[in-house]
Amino acid sequence: MSQHLFDLQNQNMIITGGAQGIGFEFVKAFKEAGANIVVLDISDKVENLQELNVDYIQCDLMEIEKIEATFQQAAKKLNGKVDILINCAGIIKRSPAVDVPLDTWQRIFNLNVTSLFELSRLAARVMKEHGRGKIINLSSIVSVIGAYHSSPYSASKGAVLQLTKSLSNEWASYGIQVNAIAPGYILTDMNTDILNNPTRKAEFEKRIPANRWGSPQDIVGTALFLASPASDYVTGVLIPVDGGVLSR
Ligand SMILES: NC(=O)c1ccc[n+]([C@@H]2O[C@H](COP(=O)([O-])OP(=O)(O)OC[C@H]3O[C@@H](n4cnc5c(N)ncnc54)[C@H](O)[C@@H]3O)[C@@H](O)[C@H]2O)c1
Repeated sequence: MSQHLFDLQNQNMIITGGAQGIGFEFVKAFKEAGANIVVLDISDKVENLQELNVDYIQCDLMEIEKIEATFQQAAKKLNGKVDILINCAGIIKRSPAVDVPLDTWQRIFNLNVTSLFELSRLAARVMKEHGRGKIINLSSIVSVIGAYHSSPYSASKGAVLQLTKSLSNEWASYGIQVNAIAPGYILTDMNTDILNNPTRKAEFEKRIPANRWGSPQDIVGTALFLASPASDYVTGVLIPVDGGVLSR
């Protein structure tokens, strides 16, 4: 049994936001583990996935009314079977709460919450037919602690955490596990403005017991665990991967 615990060979999966950053590390690791992947991402960088022989659909997941057709297209590429969904696409916009245009709030929620909800429901219908499935949502440490100058983002990631628990409640009995990962401070484009400012970068570092920012590779092991049979009795949880920030 134990040799199958982490087996992902021929598992069919959809990864959103797989063109760069954390999602791209997922794509490389799951490809290496033998999974069949379709990436959904808005960026032109998805074209680079051709070199890895990974399939993709370039799409704007904020266009909620188009998500069902996009999902069906992805499912067709996977011969109608979706074993794993990783909801990784996300955006942040930093500014004081009083200055946030409502349109920015709406866009953050559209992508970070509504598209995740819609894709998860579409995937769950297929997974239910097969009696098993794994849904992994990228939340954040700011779903637990408050953020500073990114209140819409923090609220959206809190929503992701609560959705993870609620969807887990509904789907656990179908053999579908729904879990969330809470990355801490990770070296990706999402944090370019902080990383380009040595003082701010150092300020963030002081909050991290591990004394360093995380890399996208630091998140991979938890995703592999949550996607594999090893986590079949783990559902509805948030796993921080944050160098200890949440435990301070
Ligand atoms: N980097 C961090 O410190 C950090 C911390 C906590 C949580 N997260 C979460 O991890 C996930 C990945 O973040 P990242 O740091 O790799 O960010 P990133 O900006 O490097 O990658 C985000 C990906 O989402 C895609 N995307 C953006 N808008 C889209 C849209 N409208 N439709 C489809 N795809 C779209 C981008 O093209 C990109 O490939 C996000 O959900 C983020 O909120 C990141």
